[in-house]
Amino acid sequence: MKVINAPSLANCDCLQMGEDIRQLAENGIEFLHIDLMDGHYVPNLCLPPNYIGDIKRAYPYIETDIHLMVSSPADYLERLKEQGADYVAFHADATPFVRRTLTQIRALGMKAGVAINPSQRIDCIEPYASLLDYVVLMTVEPGFAGQRFLPDSFSRLEELAHLRSKLNASFLIEIDGGVDYENIPALLRLGSDILVTGVYVVFRQPDGIPGACKRFRELTNNL
Ligand code: DX5
Ligand code: ZN
Repeated sequence: MKVINAPSLANCDCLQMGEDIRQLAENGIEFLHIDLMDGHYVPNLCLPPNYIGDIKRAYPYIETDIHLMVSSPADYLERLKEQGADYVAFHADATPFVRRTLTQIRALGMKAGVAINPSQRIDCIEPYASLLDYVVLMTVEPGFAGQRFLPDSFSRLEELAHLRSKLNASFLIEIDGGVDYENIPALLRLGSDILVTGVYVVFRQPDGIPGACKRFRELTNNL
């Protein structure tokens, strides 16, 4: 499978967001990572659900990947569905009812995922691996855009990819936090399928969004 470039909208300047999304869409982006934070699960606030609906109305073919950094993920699922969310991931430690929440996401017709924090064990997903469409491996502590990639994430990714084969599971692996042009080759080699891209890859680049999307494509096509 070709790796998916998933730009994270938390990195946009709010006054530029519409123009940034237009440029991303014109330059081949078909998957957007949208962070939702409630100020409880993480000490920050980010992007309300109605943004998803606005994006889907303008670009119905773009897959919206919602990263819930909230304490009570089940409370948001219906609303996310109404807005047209395609992928929904919540943090494995945000609810005692991981299986129920994954099942609810799938029952609503969305792809279901969990996010694993840098201090959580990788094998925590083992009991419910068959219910997962994707796993978001956090490679920074969640809550803030623009942090640097934690280097021990490489061995954690290796462990996750190994667990996936051992369990004969088919979930996709998404990498979130500090992805940059230096770590992309190793992230692909070690088994990731979706890369969340932010300030080190597509935003605030000297060649702008069009140049950065092209560089990402060229780099990943040649690996
Ligand atoms: C961090 C967020 C990320 C972030 C990624 O809590 O989940 O999605 O926006 O962007 P960078 O890699 O620029 O931090
Ligand atoms: Zn995220």
